[in-house]
Amino acid sequence: MPQRIGVIGTFIRDTIVTLDGKTVESIGGLYHTLAYLAHLADATTEIQPLGFVGEDFYDTIQKTLTQFNKKILFTHLHRVPQPNTQVTLTYLTPETREELTTPGMPPITSAEILALTGCEAVLANLITGSDIALEALKTLRKSTPSPLIYLDLHSLALGIDKSGKRYYRPIPEAADWVAACHILQLNEHEAATLAGFGKTATYEDLVKFGQTLAAGNLLACHITLGSAGSLLFYRQHNTVDYEHVSPAPVGPVVDIIGCGDAFGAAFLTHFMKSKNFSAATHFANRVAGLNGTFVGSLTPDIFRHVIKPQLDSFAS
Ligand SMILES: Nc1ncnc2c1ncn2[C@@H]1O[C@H](COP(=O)(O)OP(=O)(O)OP(=O)(O)O)[C@@H](O)[C@H]1O
Ligand SMILES: [Mg+2]
Repeated sequence: MPQRIGVIGTFIRDTIVTLDGKTVESIGGLYHTLAYLAHLADATTEIQPLGFVGEDFYDTIQKTLTQFNKKILFTHLHRVPQPNTQVTLTYLTPETREELTTPGMPPITSAEILALTGCEAVLANLITGSDIALEALKTLRKSTPSPLIYLDLHSLALGIDKSGKRYYRPIPEAADWVAACHILQLNEHEAATLAGFGKTATYEDLVKFGQTLAAGNLLACHITLGSAGSLLFYRQHNTVDYEHVSPAPVGPVVDIIGCGDAFGAAFLTHFMKSKNFSAATHFANRVAGLNGTFVGSLTPDIFRHVIKPQLDSFAS
């Protein structure tokens, strides 16, 4: 059987309003994760997304993903008779933006998640926060053998008000979400929220919190810090090690959308081969940094010309 990576999350119809007021339509959300997994995983690895796509968007998604030179299994990507989730992203400064979101797709249930047993790894990226039911992730974690579960907490730390605007809020059943994965990815605001500090925490508090997380049942935890790289926490011989990894210089950053997604996909594909937390994190920072150097979403052409030539020194 070929190796399979399961993928959970929501594809988004993105409308991006740039700083100079231009409007650009693109495919966002889980697309970034899928695109990086497809380009970075071994040639024989199959990618299996599980979830729901609105009927107005399904054909676009299928056509776009099919151009990757990779086996993507569409069997459990279901078309649903409702409009796909749409997000309007308005840039306020180069590193901050406001988001307006329409309703999510139906969450994956415990019965549906069984499609991913047998995967070597599953990357769950909580793009809307209602992509998957907590019970379903728990079911996957309890399955034997459990795939390696990589969870990007992302929008779970965000509530949504009546107008569709998202805001940081305490995470419901936070401890259970953490216990349902093996490797956790948070950005600094998500980490601060998970720790109960509100939206921001000091560097020292983030380090303490990461160490506490990695001392529990997690194998590892990433706290990403935007342009400052990331903090890696992992357990080795019953002690928690941590490392602050800086992004390698990659040239001017012009568009940070998808950096967190590039980070997760790059870490996971590298780690599945190398089993080396530190090396995989250096690779993830390199790929995520490169993701910021071009405008728009990753395409096979951009991968070949912008990303691939910069990765040759990172063979695992
Ligand atoms: N301005 C930047 N310069 C260089 N690297 C960056 C920059 N912004 C992000 N990165 C890279 O991307 C990684 C993830 O970024 P960030 O911490 O912003 O995640 P995120 O908030 O989850 O992103 P996303 O909006 O995609 O969810 C960082 O650890 C870093 O490697
Ligand atoms: Mg993120």
